[in-house]
Order: sequence, then structure tokens, then C-alpha cells
Amino acid sequence: MTTTGCTAGVSKAEGSGRFGTLSEAEKRGVDSRRRIAVLGAGGMLGKMVVQKAPPAFDVLALTKAQADISDPSKTAEVLDQLSPGVVINCGAVTDVDGCERTPQTAESVNGMAPGNLAAWCLAAGALLVHVSTDFVFDGNKKTPYVESDPPNPLSAYGRSKLLGEERVAASGIKRYFIVRTSWLYGPWGRNFVDTMVRLLLDREVLSVVSDQVGSPTYTEDLAEAIFDLVRLDGDARRLGSRGGEGKDGAAVHGIYHFADRGACSRYELAERIAHELVRLGLPVKARKIRPIRTEDYPLPARRPAYSVLSTDKFRTVTGKSVPDWREALARYLESRFGGGASG
Ligand SMILES: NC(=O)c1ccc[n+]([C@@H]2O[C@H](COP(=O)([O-])OP(=O)(O)OC[C@H]3O[C@@H](n4cnc5c(N)ncnc54)[C@H](OP(=O)(O)O)[C@@H]3O)[C@@H](O)[C@H]2O)c1
Repeated sequence: MTTTGCTAGVSKAEGSGRFGTLSEAEKRGVDSRRRIAVLGAGGMLGKMVVQKAPPAFDVLALTKAQADISDPSKTAEVLDQLSPGVVINCGAVTDVDGCERTPQTAESVNGMAPGNLAAWCLAAGALLVHVSTDFVFDGNKKTPYVESDPPNPLSAYGRSKLLGEERVAASGIKRYFIVRTSWLYGPWGRNFVDTMVRLLLDREVLSVVSDQVGSPTYTEDLAEAIFDLVRLDGDARRLGSRGGEGKDGAAVHGIYHFADRGACSRYELAERIAHELVRLGLPVKARKIRPIRTEDYPLPARRPAYSVLSTDKFRTVTGKSVPDWREALARYLESRFGGGASG
């Protein structure tokens, strides 16, 4: 990834930084197809996407302060100035319970904004990668959800994210990927794994729900998958299909599910985190993790009981394998705490 020669570029390490506009000379100097604008670049996934961008790309990291996607004209102005060939939208309101209290904000950011971004990309001839969620499903299935399964969100957050998907699809854009993912964790954000780490080191007894099953997903793996899809778009275009067909003529764009492989309950995830922390030699205080039911821990928003995503389509179309969730979790905790408890 290069961030030089472009005043809007930001440092890879910090994921935020100097922001400005490109001069006409700079615009000509950088192949716009290789210029990627990451929206919501201050968030957990956004920072990882910026960090993981392959060197061939010129990445423009735009935080909410630099591009508030709920303001369509300002966002369009920023994108017009930067002229990216790829827009990756990691911006969202992700406080699932908070969305129950302020559904209008969720609708504006998660629902309306993706449609406006799609309209900008369509007009500019750019690729849009938009990140969505397993919470568009109701969780009544017993086998992994495939892309064509009918959504039926249970929460204001899920409904707002589904609206975002629908607005992208209705915009008329062909070159888009909607990437649904689940149970994200990684550095730079509030997430279940980090919360469990803190509690396991602090408390003797923990209660964790055992009747919600999903696939924990490391942001590092999702960021890699997003760039696999960006490359897929590039390959399809090189093959000369304006609609973005792959080698066999099938359309490559549309909805994809990506999550680390396998599934567990939140209780099983907590147990696995404890196992890894002990392996890393951390002073785990918890002596017992108690499985409880969702109804024993009431929250404002309803969650799907089962939201495992099938990655068959992603693996078939990209030819890539998907890391096992246990291996990904070990890799994350090793990177955080491999040097000891101070990580
Ligand atoms: N976390 C999960 O478990 C999970 C699971 C499935 C799908 N997803 C999806 O994954 C994507 C990334 O989520 P994440 O976990 O990285 O969440 P995150 O850490 O909360 O990041 C979201 C980012 O979007 C920013 N944002 C909020 N409103 C914005 C606006 N109006 N304009 C521009 N940016 C705005 C936030 O800024 P502020 O913090 O300053 O408001 C934050 O930096 C989202 O689409 C989310 O729906 C997440």
C-alpha cells in the first residue's frame, strides 16, 4: 500500500491521519482503479482494512470526521475530490442495543447511506464493497445461511442493515459486493472476545449465554477476504466483461458471506478464550464459566439464536480457503498477548 504522493493518504499504522484533496497532477499520477477509499476507517474493521491493504493499492482512510456517510452531498464532494476506483464502506452504527433506542440514526447511517454510496460509485464507475451482517437473519435455520436465504431481521440494527443492502441492490450498480459477516473481533474496537479476556482476568465466575450460535470472525481474515473480492472484480474486468462476469461467464458481483470456518456458542467461545489465555500463560482468575440462556440476560435488542454463515460461495468463486475460527482466535490472542499480560 502506498500513501505517498497523495495528500489524502494516511499512515498504515494509525489508520487515521492527514486528510486533504488531490491536485489534478496527483489525480493523474495515481491510477484511480488502484485508489481505494475506506469509509468508517476509524472503526475496528476499517482500521484493519487500511492496515491489510496490499502494497499495490493506494489507500485513502476516511474516518467519520472526514466523511460522514449520513451526509450524502458532503460525502459525494469528498469522493469527487479523491476519485477512488474502489469504495469500501466499513462505516456503520454498530451498537445493536443502542439502535433500538435511536432507530432513525441506524436507518440513516446503515440504511440510507449505502444506497447513496452505491449511486456515487455507479456514476463514477467505481467498485463498491459494503459490509453487512448475519443479523439480517432471524436465526430459525439449523444449517448455515446461504446468500439466497430470505432475510428476516429481529432488531432495529438488523432492519437498518438490510435496508442498506436493499438500497445498494436497487441503485442499479452492477459492480458491488455486499459482504455479510458475523461476530467480529480484532484490535481497535469493542468486541466480545476482548470483553471476555477482561472478565476472565478479573472475575472468578462468569455467566455466558450458550443458546446463541455463530461464527467468530477475526477482522484480519475479513480484511483479506475483502481484498480477494476486490481482486476478483479486477480479474473479471480484465477478462473484458463489463458486467463483471468471471471466467465461466457467471456474474461475480453481488452478496457474499464471509466468516471464519466453524461455529460455536458464545459460551463455547468464552471457554476457548480461557483455554488460549491459559496456554499463553496469562493469569486467568475465572474458575468457572456458567452457561446461561439468552432470557436470563435480557438486552434491548433480540439476537438470532443461530446465525452461522455458509462461505461456500466465497470459497468456490475466489478459490480461497477460510481459516478455522479456533486457529484465528489463537492467532489473534497470540498477537495481543504472546509477549505476556501487558498486550
Ligand atoms: N462488530 C461485529 O460483530 C459485526 C458483525 C457483523 C457485521 N458487522 C459490520 O461490520 C462493519 C464494521 O463494523 P465494526 O465492527 O468495525 O464497527 P465499529 O468499530 O463500530 O466501526 C464502525 C465505524 O463507523 C463509523 N461511523 C459511524 N457513523 C458513521 C457515519 N455517519 N459516517 C461515517 N462513519 C461512521 C464509526 O465511527 P464512531 O465510532 O466515531 O461513531 C466507526 O468508526 C459494519 O458494517 C458492521 O455492521 C460488524
